Amino acid sequence: MTRNISSRRGFLKSSSLAAAAVALRGSSSFAQDAKVDAHIDINPAEVIGTISPEIYSHFIEHLGGVIYDGVWVGGGSKIPNVDGIRKDFIDTMKAVKAPLLRWPGGCFADSYDWRDGIGPRDKRPARAAFWKQQDSSQYGLHEFMRTCRAIGCKPYLAANLRTQPARDFYQEIEYCNAPAGDLPSNSAAPAAPDTLAAQRAANGDPEPFNVDLWGVGNESWGCGGNMTPEEYAAEYRRFTAWTPTFGETPLRFVAVGPNGDDVDWTRRLFKALYGNPERRHLWGLSIHYYTSGSPKKFGGGDALAFNDDEFYDLLTRGSLMDKVITDHWTAMSTAVPNSLSNQGADSRNPVKLVIDEWGAWYGKGTELTPQYNLSQQSTMRDALLTGITFDIFHRQADKVGAAAVAQSINCLHSLMLAQEDKFCVTPTFHVFQMYLSHHGAQAVRAEFSAPSIVNPLGTTASQVGGSSYIGQLPPIKSLAGLSGSASLNGKTLTLTVVNPHLTQPMTTGIAVRGASVASAKGTVLAEKDVHAHNDFAHPDAVKPSTVDGLKPSGGKLTHTFPPASITALEITLA
Ligand code: AHR
Repeated sequence: MTRNISSRRGFLKSSSLAAAAVALRGSSSFAQDAKVDAHIDINPAEVIGTISPEIYSHFIEHLGGVIYDGVWVGGGSKIPNVDGIRKDFIDTMKAVKAPLLRWPGGCFADSYDWRDGIGPRDKRPARAAFWKQQDSSQYGLHEFMRTCRAIGCKPYLAANLRTQPARDFYQEIEYCNAPAGDLPSNSAAPAAPDTLAAQRAANGDPEPFNVDLWGVGNESWGCGGNMTPEEYAAEYRRFTAWTPTFGETPLRFVAVGPNGDDVDWTRRLFKALYGNPERRHLWGLSIHYYTSGSPKKFGGGDALAFNDDEFYDLLTRGSLMDKVITDHWTAMSTAVPNSLSNQGADSRNPVKLVIDEWGAWYGKGTELTPQYNLSQQSTMRDALLTGITFDIFHRQADKVGAAAVAQSINCLHSLMLAQEDKFCVTPTFHVFQMYLSHHGAQAVRAEFSAPSIVNPLGTTASQVGGSSYIGQLPPIKSLAGLSGSASLNGKTLTLTVVNPHLTQPMTTGIAVRGASVASAKGTVLAEKDVHAHNDFAHPDAVKPSTVDGLKPSGGKLTHTFPPASITALEITLA
């Protein structure tokens, strides 16, 4: 174990608005208090923005054991299911109030023909598919929509830009969204039923799916076509030049953004997209940022076997999400001034960031079986990364419109593991649940002042990547000793806090400017051993517990955050 805590006098302040840690100069509303290790100073008057519930979204891809077995077990299965969809999957997604579900990929999407997955299941083709697998097409568009309906979430479809023409894209929209029955022709021709809507009805769904959110391709810099930003911008424009709109809900298109911190992609893409007046329905720019299990090799490292240095290093590199968000936001606004505001270059469409793939990505060793490609175990380390990531999203609530964890079940940073009739949730699931009261609340500025932790491995650039791209991020030497975020909903303030220190409890003074703390309750996820995880034999090895002894005094709260913990406090203000 390294001695990681810096000098008690060397406090660092990690601010909600300026994410970087800077030396504390006593600006907080506290006098420095000898009895505490850290301070959290919350200012409800400084609103960052509304926390879009869509940052808590999900992603499932035809990959290894995600769809087949994870989500789809088939109607005749002895595994409890609703119309062929694993019941545990539905119940767990409901338990975290999943707002959006992204499908069918990932890299899989850019070689998938949506028509393969409609119509009678026994007539559907089995095809060679991305990820060196065969896809039986048993789980297709209608099964996916039923999954969303059962969960109560909205669909987010990734369209194929690499291997299908623009016609398939707009016809997929038409198939999903055209109402059944006669449609006014808006021409001299008489009204008539839409053929694709009739086909959808014949396939079991007369009511339109009303899909508004569409990814226009996936990772077009890599598996999605190895394009330059300029080439992709031209494709985006061609695919979206005309698409049918039905009803009142506007379409929201998400353009393929960078991998990790590749700001060159974002700058050039924005220049190219805004170099022409047309970029229809552009609502979001996708970002994929994975935290590699190893700084040296993307997708290396072991999900279960790691030492203290590797633990701190992973969380430090995960914290770079903050820099990734700021860097791309800055790149967008410098490439095209005013592109992000309600005025100026695109008053119709201020673009948001959509971080639709994020999480830890480890090497082989803990997969359920080799066929469950990219499945991995998830420990308390991953739960801490989850908390750190969501707190970053809240602190950047003005920039992040949506985000999706990669992936919900049996792949990478999962909430669930399932194999045949065996099922368990991971520690990450618990963090999703503990953070529920942030959904839709107003993110407010909260200043954290705590001793920073030295990252012993933060000396060289680290690898970022996905299935087909490798880039680098700068070395980062320190990890915030305490980080988190605050949000307000009426008189209730939610404060979530991550103490990443392996051994050091953090006694912290919490104050709210202009208000006093009337009462507080909370939940904590903490384990003495950060390797702790759930598995099929021990599904409840890691689970949260209630925080005891929260007693405000003089309108403030003092609380000791245990080592390696995530805490969610619900504070009532007077
Ligand atoms: O989530 C796994 C893969 O990672 C996705 O298919 C791809 O988009 C990314 O590279």
